[in-house]
Amino acid sequence: MHIVAFVAQKGGSGKSTLASNVAVAGHLAGERVFICDLDPLQLLVKWSKARKAVDVPVEHIPPGKLAPALAALASKGVTLAVIDTPGADPAACEEAIRAADLCVIPARPNTLDIWASEATLAKVRSCGKDYAFLLNQCPPAQQGVRVERGAQALQQLGALLAPLVSTRVDYQDAIRLGLGVGELNPSGVAAREMRRLWASLRGRLEENARSAAPELSLFPYRSFFDQAIKAHDFYASFLNALLPADRGTAERPPPEDAARRR
Ligand SMILES: Nc1ncnc2c1ncn2[C@@H]1O[C@H](COP(=O)(O)OP(=O)(O)OP(=O)(O)O)[C@@H](O)[C@H]1O
Ligand SMILES: [Mg+2]
Repeated sequence: MHIVAFVAQKGGSGKSTLASNVAVAGHLAGERVFICDLDPLQLLVKWSKARKAVDVPVEHIPPGKLAPALAALASKGVTLAVIDTPGADPAACEEAIRAADLCVIPARPNTLDIWASEATLAKVRSCGKDYAFLLNQCPPAQQGVRVERGAQALQQLGALLAPLVSTRVDYQDAIRLGLGVGELNPSGVAAREMRRLWASLRGRLEENARSAAPELSLFPYRSFFDQAIKAHDFYASFLNALLPADRGTAERPPPEDAARRR
């Protein structure tokens, strides 16, 4: 059973939206999916009541009960457990991180969200878990050359999941109806984003499972990311890739970008 946790200690970055949509994308791809809702507000439990069908079950898991719940799910043949966590609840966040095979850290493409994700990132790294960022609520228009290039570099390093997820009404409508965007509008752009995201996640989970032989303590992507951080100020590059070129600490645009503007 693969276990994916959506963790970010800043509220509103899209954990619940993405957890429900990834769960549905996995379900549509043939996984036996279960959502563990660690949030005391139980918003995904509400989502599943709106859904009515029990094909993507959701249960609220109280504090301290996640590990036995996951063991029970694995023994019942669940192939994908998706964990949604509350914002600003370090204990629940840590419980999810410790249980997960892969921690997804959603952030909106703004400086405050990315700064806020530092605490989550530190916790994930201290637990020795594999992780990747996921940029959510990006402007739907095509990204600038700089952002595209920064995102591609981070995706190649495994630090950022593909694709960038845009702000789209389908995500909001789907939640209200207890659906995933892949069910609400299967030919829509949001549905395509979620199919691509599921493909990225599945590839990553399968690769981790292959490399998780007992003698290997480092996940391939994590060590890659850690080396990149050591090699140069990678995190600053992450910020710079997302900030407007003429503001704050952003580096100067590459010459070809500057040429395009003229
Ligand atoms: N890609 C998106 N497009 C449009 N709206 C989105 C998208 N992602 C999230 N939202 C909206 O942003 C708001 C916050 O999303 P969500 O509740 O999923 O965040 P969260 O990280 O789970 O928050 P919390 O930490 O409070 O649980 C919601 O209103 C949701 O509908
Ligand atoms: Mg939530």
